[in-house]
Formats: sequence, C-alpha cells, structure tokens
Amino acid sequence: MRRSPSENSAVSAPAAPEAGWWRAASIYQIYPRSFQDSNGDGVGDLEGIRRRLGHLVDLGVDAAWISPFYPSPMHDFGYDVRDYCDVDPLFGSLDDFDRLLAEAHALGLRVILDFVPNHTSIEHEWFLRGRAGDPDRRDWHIWRDPSPSGGAPNNWLSHFGGPAWTFDETRGQYYHHAFLPQQPDLNWRNPAVKAAMLDVLRFWLRRGVDGFRVDVISQIVKDEQFRDNPENPDWTQERPEIERRLQLYSGDRPEVHALVAEMRAVLEEFGHGVLIGEIYLPPERLVAYYGEALRGAHLPFNFQLLETPWEAGALGAMIEAYEALLPQGAWPNWVLSNHDRPRVAARVGSAQARVAAMLLMTLRGTPTLYYGDEIGIGPVEVPPERVRDPWALREPHLSVGRDPVRTPMQWDASANAGFSQAEPWLPLTPDWAARNVATQARDPCSMLSLTRALLALRKASRCLTLGSWRRLDAPAGVLAYERAFADERRLVALNLSAAPKLWTPPAGEALEIALSTTLARAGEKVGAQLALQPDEGVILLA
Ligand code: NOJ
Repeated sequence: MRRSPSENSAVSAPAAPEAGWWRAASIYQIYPRSFQDSNGDGVGDLEGIRRRLGHLVDLGVDAAWISPFYPSPMHDFGYDVRDYCDVDPLFGSLDDFDRLLAEAHALGLRVILDFVPNHTSIEHEWFLRGRAGDPDRRDWHIWRDPSPSGGAPNNWLSHFGGPAWTFDETRGQYYHHAFLPQQPDLNWRNPAVKAAMLDVLRFWLRRGVDGFRVDVISQIVKDEQFRDNPENPDWTQERPEIERRLQLYSGDRPEVHALVAEMRAVLEEFGHGVLIGEIYLPPERLVAYYGEALRGAHLPFNFQLLETPWEAGALGAMIEAYEALLPQGAWPNWVLSNHDRPRVAARVGSAQARVAAMLLMTLRGTPTLYYGDEIGIGPVEVPPERVRDPWALREPHLSVGRDPVRTPMQWDASANAGFSQAEPWLPLTPDWAARNVATQARDPCSMLSLTRALLALRKASRCLTLGSWRRLDAPAGVLAYERAFADERRLVALNLSAAPKLWTPPAGEALEIALSTTLARAGEKVGAQLALQPDEGVILLA
C-alpha cells in the first residue's frame, strides 16, 4: 500500500479531480459555546451559528465542523454525551439543527458533526442501566474487578490526570475512563455497543450531515488483556500526568482499524460523507488510519503543524516526511489550531500568524481553520476564578488549560463583541474592540482580508487545491515550495524569520506575485531574486 521512498521523495501525485468533495474543500471548526449566542445566556448556540453562516460564505470555506452540541452535563463541555441523537437545550433543539443544516446546504456549505465514540457521559442511560446491573447493558462500558491486591485493575492513567479507573460501590467493580470519571469508556468489543453506535452515525446521516470528525478514534478499543502501560523514562513533573506512562495498551490497538473501516462503510451507505479521525500519533502510526486499501478514515487529522517548532527547516523537513509516508492515493490534511491546543497567533505571534495562514492554505491537503484564527485571535489570560476547563482544574500547576483557545468569537466593537447580550462564559481577548470581524472587514490589509484572499485564490486554482507539492531550495529562515497541476504552477515562499530575506526562485521563470501576506504586492514582477520582507509570505504565478 505504501509507496517506496524512491517513488515519493520528490513530487507527490496530484489528485484526480473527480475524487471526494473534501479533497479540494477547506473546513472551518466551530466551537458552538463560543461562536454566537442567540438567546442571551452568554453561551453560543445553534441558532447563533445559523445567523452567522454568512461569515463562512464571505470567508470562502466549504464546510463547518461543529464540536459537540448533544445533551450533556457538560463536565467536558459536550464531550461527555448523555444522548447521541438529540441537541442539548443549551444549544437549541433538533429543529434548530435541521434549520441550520438546511440553510448551510442552501448556501453551499457542508456540515460535519463531532462523533464521540470512545466514552459517554456518566449520565447516559446505557451507563446508568449497566451500573444498576441491567443484564442488557452490563457490558456496554468497560467494567473490571479490582486487581488481586484490591486496587485498580491496572496502571492506566486518565488524560486529565489521576487514575483511569473509578470504583463503583453499586457494582463492586471499577469502570474505565480515559478522560474524566464522568466520561466512562464504551466497550467497543461488545457487538451491541458497536451496532448502537453505528446507528448513531445513520441517525445524523439520514438528517443530511456531510460527515464526522471522530473524537479520539484511535483509543476506542483497548488491549484485550488490559496489560499495564510501561513507565515513560522521559517523564518529568512539568509534563501532564498522562505522559508518565507510554500508552501502549490503552489505545492505538491493532483491532481499531476494523472498527474505523466499519464507520467508513456506514458513511458509504449514504454516499458522500467524510470521515475525519482525531489521532495524536507520530506520522508513522497516524497514516495506518487511512486503513487497508484506503478503507479507513478519509482524513486522519494531521497535527504536525501544531507539534513542529516554528522554524523553516524543521517545517520543511516535517512536510516532506509526512508526504513521503502517505500511502498511495491517501489525501493529506493540515491543522494549525483547535479547541485543545494553543491558538496559532498565541504560539507564533501575530506577524507569523499571517505566514502560517498562507502555509495552511497552500500546502497539499485539506486545511482545517479554527474559528477566530481568521482574525488572528491571540493570547488571553483567563483569571483563576474564570477557569472552566476540567483539565486545567485538575492539573492547575501545569499550563494545560484550554480556556484561552475557546474564548468567544469577536464580531464587532459593540458590547461583548457582538457575541452575546450577556457576559460571555469566557472572557474576550484584551484587544477585542479592535480585533473583530467588522473592524477587519473594513481594513483591506487585515488578517481577515488576508484569510479571505487566501481562500479565494485557493478555490480558484486547481494546483493550490489538488496539485502536487515539491520543496524548493531556500536560504535559512525561508520555506519555499511549488504546487503544480497539469500546466498550472504556483510557487510559495514564506519568510519565517523577522529579518528581510532574499530568495532565488528556480532559474529562467517569468514570475509574478499573486498574493503577499502584506496584501500590497499583487501583480509585482519578480526577477532573478525576490526580496521578502520580515514575516512575509508570497504566492507567485509561474
Ligand atoms: C478530544 C477532544 O478534542 C477534547 O476536547 C476532549 O476533552 C477529549 N477528546 C475527550 O472527549
């Protein structure tokens, strides 16, 4: 299935134009609590998203992935699901969802839901019945007897700190939770669980959704023998407790791939949906999630841009390595930020955030843009009394808090940035009065104008969406590459440094700047050398 290194080291193959819609598409992630509040409770909702769909159209994205909005006690803000086939009243109703979906489709936007198969809420009926000993639900979650010495069945740790097992007095057994004790893991080895969960996919596909982003897909099946995880010799106190042990037996088990293929097969019953897997694994293990004969996830999320130092050489090498690892015919994808990781502008600074946006939109593969990154939302201090993230509350001595990346969308300079009539559930960033959609829409050189221009250019060019990718020579601090499709070519040169740089494009080319991150150089002809300003990226027409 894999190409040999010699086959893929230089130029990656262009995709067939008739392939799935998600190849040429760009995805926009919406964290529903934080996008738009329509009923004045300080928390975003589905009706709010519906009212703001025009923003997605103006941006030029093709699909919205909406993080969970299902009924939930919200211990992990919706990633603890009480009922997979409904909408939490906080976010609206199924009718609101149908209206949102219909309007999105009318506007030409696809809608991708977040499917959370690894765990339910502790309040899910399946768990309540299983805990009470109902024989029909006895093995729907992962229940184990205490170890012979009387403690937890093994040494697995929770992602949010502490043991991954909680003792239940009623059953006299432990249940497993990879995350909070309020998020018990489902038992995917039970065929009844699998059937019920695949039916959840059908429930939403019948309503018309266009695919799923599947939460921690790589962890849904665990070691059959529940072996202890080995200690991590490199762990230090400054690292999250979960990293204390190598997660050898608690996730990424060989059996998972058959389950991913079954999810994919359900999508195929309906024809057109995309299956995206949330997988934090090294690229060598990540690419296995494309599955045998590419029957797994269409897009196993590639988080390499989040993990790689922001430096031209490191990024170039990482992109080449990822491209080389892709199985034949597999389609790449790229993520710069999400609701779990620091915002790109907080990580690399606002000047480099513009370069990062150009990188995201010009790499080969489907980009996922996180809400707020289009206006460059950056760092924010969340005061201790406003911290909401359960992980931050459980490991307060670490900087793992996810609240700063979930602050409300900043729409305009009116009260609460136009997000809500009420005090928002999380604070706005300090510069919200200037950093908002309305203000940036009036500024032809803003981050918003740049993001719109990038998406427009991408959409208009088959080589930027479907073309091959090849790295070009460049001086230290500059990342340069070529995209090509049939006789169309674009060159991209990104100055990842704060110093001016001179880049020599391949000889003998008549080049013209199509777009600069400064938004001020379009149409400029380029001679033997291109002068890049500090923190500037350019796309060149060849
Ligand atoms: C990954 C999600 O992205 C994260 O927000 C959540 O806390 C965990 N999975 C548990 O569902």
